[in-house]
Amino acid sequence: MGAYSEGIRIGVVGVGYWGSKHLRVLRSTTGAATVVGVDQRFTGNDDSPQLLDFDVVGYSDIEQALPDVDAVVIATPPSTHARLSLQAIKAGKHVLVEKPLATTTAEAQLVVDAAESAGLVLMAGHTLEHNAAAHKLRDLIRGGHLGRLYYFDCARLNLGLYQPDVAVIMDLAPHDISVANFVLSSRPSAVTAWGSRHVHPEYADVAHLLRDYGDLGIRATIQVSWLSPQKVRRSRPWARRRWPSRTRTSSTASPTAPGHPPTATAALTFFRYSNASRYRCASSGRSS
Ligand SMILES: NC(=O)c1ccc[n+]([C@@H]2O[C@H](COP(=O)([O-])OP(=O)(O)OC[C@H]3O[C@@H](n4cnc5c(N)ncnc54)[C@H](O)[C@@H]3O)[C@@H](O)[C@H]2O)c1
Repeated sequence: MGAYSEGIRIGVVGVGYWGSKHLRVLRSTTGAATVVGVDQRFTGNDDSPQLLDFDVVGYSDIEQALPDVDAVVIATPPSTHARLSLQAIKAGKHVLVEKPLATTTAEAQLVVDAAESAGLVLMAGHTLEHNAAAHKLRDLIRGGHLGRLYYFDCARLNLGLYQPDVAVIMDLAPHDISVANFVLSSRPSAVTAWGSRHVHPEYADVAHLLRDYGDLGIRATIQVSWLSPQKVRRSRPWARRRWPSRTRTSSTASPTAPGHPPTATAALTFFRYSNASRYRCASSGRSS
């Protein structure tokens, strides 16, 4: 950071629902010398920057702002991410791009390669990897404190917000994919996904993903939906261990088998004994 001893100049590209939060937080972040906003909605009468609320300078096009910044945060619709990231990297700017990094693997690789060869920082907006709870969970799993891991279960459900240019997998699942990889300290060897379109005119709005972590011998399931009246945010490892007796749920933990110690929770015990055969069926079905 020697080059930025007076602070880093940051441009937030896309000052909509999420970008406005980046703008607000960056304005009170130590080390951010100046923060400017870029949004195609900022159409002044001429090409000069506008003064936005809170004395932030606003530009209508990223190209206008690039000479005045060291780094950009890209919070525009997903289909624009790769193009805007490449534009910023080409101009020598560090990039934090909101999830998803890009909408195709090929585009994502282009962006990663461009940043690498330019020696610039490229980050995707996988915010949960910077959450203290995710760090704690990762440490508990790494330290073996949860016992034997059975599976990892994630859900991210709500009613809307529908995105116009991507399916729900691109919009919501990046959080769960990143948090599962992060807390398990691994990457899946196989992924299967199922999605269906109900209300969205073009893209799936309900989806399930199954991720096999072959090295760990476990699976992560991810359920995402824009069609759930109930808002759910869940990232949950299921594991087997002995708990102190005060944490047992004795009323519903009856399925504990003779010869086996009581397990962590009733739900966990239920899974242990009811789903074992289903798990085997799924595995053999896929390998045949
Ligand atoms: N990390 C998170 O938890 C989180 C939460 C919400 C949204 N997001 C991500 O943030 C991004 C934006 O989502 P949103 O809900 O704020 O969308 P939004 O539609 O509210 O805002 C997008 C803004 O980008 C502007 N824009 C579009 N194309 C542009 C361009 N080429 N140049 C400059 N401005 C342009 C639009 O005018 C709009 O103001 C998405 O990638 C979304 O996945 C992340």
